[in-house]
Amino acid sequence: MKPIDQNIAWPFTDEAIWVESANGRNSELLYSRNTPQPIVLELEQTLARLEHAETGVSFSSGMGAIYASLISTTKPGSKVVAFDTLYGGTFSLLKHMLPKWGVQCELFAATQSDAFFDAVRDADVVYLETPSNPMLQQLDIEAIVEAAKAAGAIVMCDNTVATPFAQNPILLGADVVIHSATKFLGGHVDALAGVVCCSESIAQQLRTHRELIGSVLAPQAAHLIMRGLQSFELRMRQATSNAKALATFFSEHPTVNAVFYPGVNAPRCKSLKNDVALLSIDLASADKRSQLLAAISPIKMMSTLGSIDTIVGIPETTSHVECTKEEREQLGISEGLLRISMGIEPCETLLDIFSQGLEAID
Ligand SMILES: Cc1ncc(COP(=O)(O)O)c(C=O)c1O
Repeated sequence: MKPIDQNIAWPFTDEAIWVESANGRNSELLYSRNTPQPIVLELEQTLARLEHAETGVSFSSGMGAIYASLISTTKPGSKVVAFDTLYGGTFSLLKHMLPKWGVQCELFAATQSDAFFDAVRDADVVYLETPSNPMLQQLDIEAIVEAAKAAGAIVMCDNTVATPFAQNPILLGADVVIHSATKFLGGHVDALAGVVCCSESIAQQLRTHRELIGSVLAPQAAHLIMRGLQSFELRMRQATSNAKALATFFSEHPTVNAVFYPGVNAPRCKSLKNDVALLSIDLASADKRSQLLAAISPIKMMSTLGSIDTIVGIPETTSHVECTKEEREQLGISEGLLRISMGIEPCETLLDIFSQGLEAID
């Protein structure tokens, strides 16, 4: 791994070199909002390789990456089309923020497939999150790419939940893949980061926006994500195998109202080459959900996902807290919904904890 330099600015003697660097024409290290450090570039290249993209551009968080991707490819009058099964922050950005700047955002329920494909016909950007957080909704990336290409639209795909372990949207024709590297890629709940994998021409626009919005990735965070990536595949093997076993167990348990996991509540779609490590369960009421949480105390509740430890989260008050009650209802995010991000603990330990927890519910 490349070393971390604690400086954020470096001396220079030739003014012309600074001007070239400030204008993005050379990669001389002079000021770290303009030019990423070698460890940051190493992370960008590693992610690009994992996603089969030409290059990568990093940001200080996943939301920074999503914001920059949308803002650098749209202008007033542009049209963004998406399904509404999105991470809450992305949903709010599309529903409430971009429209204020004259970007028309059309969001469709998963059941409105025909209306979605109609809207794609004159779209500029088609934004996907598949499988989605927290409902694990799966989209047919190839079919959407085909329709979007016919319209000349850019296809963006948030691949945070699937990760490159399970899915490579660029191999299916997507133009841009976005990651919250904070999650499974880093894997240790110790670094916030976002990475966009794309072509060099889109990357150039993203770098210009990154410099101006200042959402740059700190080298310390890049180092922690790179270290996390060293065990990425091993972690994902264990976490996805745990997730599959737990999802099957929940689907057979009478106290669990519904399970959301590709391969359990719906067939795993063809774009997924492996299982995923995230699932959600619906316990029918907030009270039952609270009883389960109280009875599984070794498992931590956090407003993140993708760690070596299993984490539970309440979508109503974490991932979708930005949404109104009506919006949450429309998205199927019920009061009894619990999201479970699988860690790498022994599967038997997790089965014991959750089966005892479910027995404790009246
Ligand atoms: C699918 C998805 N995309 C993007 C984000 C935003 O990432 P970050 O918290 O790194 O900004 C999240 C956060 O939970 C997420 O789940």
